[in-house]
Amino acid sequence: MSEVEEIIETDFDSVRELLSGSGYSDKAITYFIDKKNMGVLHDADQVTELTGVCGDTMKIYLKVEEGRIKDAKIQVVGCPGAVASAMVAMDLIKGKTLDEAKRLQDRDIFRVLEQIPDQKQHCIRLTNKTLQKAIEEYQSGNGQKGE
Ligand code: FES
Repeated sequence: MSEVEEIIETDFDSVRELLSGSGYSDKAITYFIDKKNMGVLHDADQVTELTGVCGDTMKIYLKVEEGRIKDAKIQVVGCPGAVASAMVAMDLIKGKTLDEAKRLQDRDIFRVLEQIPDQKQHCIRLTNKTLQKAIEEYQSGNGQKGE
């Protein structure tokens, strides 16, 4: 292992320790560290941004084909709870119809995360609100598309 790799590895360990001490489950921490759905879809059919009362911002990119979400990515400028929730939500809606995604509940996201601190529940709400706004905008045809 190179010196740089070693530092990264050590940092992840301390991040894990910190978040675990604040009340995040191992699974939620893994979602936060992996950030596997973080990013941009340049050919997105819908791009929607929302800023929560806390000041954190999410931007969702949806690729939709025949009413089904083919791909989804999200950019998050926010706390670990926001990042972990957003990653889970993208996992949950990929391959789903828009109507199925509309029925996604905050508790569905929480169930996957298993545990996050109580004061971070609103991060889940912000994620779902951003998603619901994206679907509404797409269905009303008022949405912004990717570049
Ligand atoms: Fe704002 Fe988590 S503190 S979304």
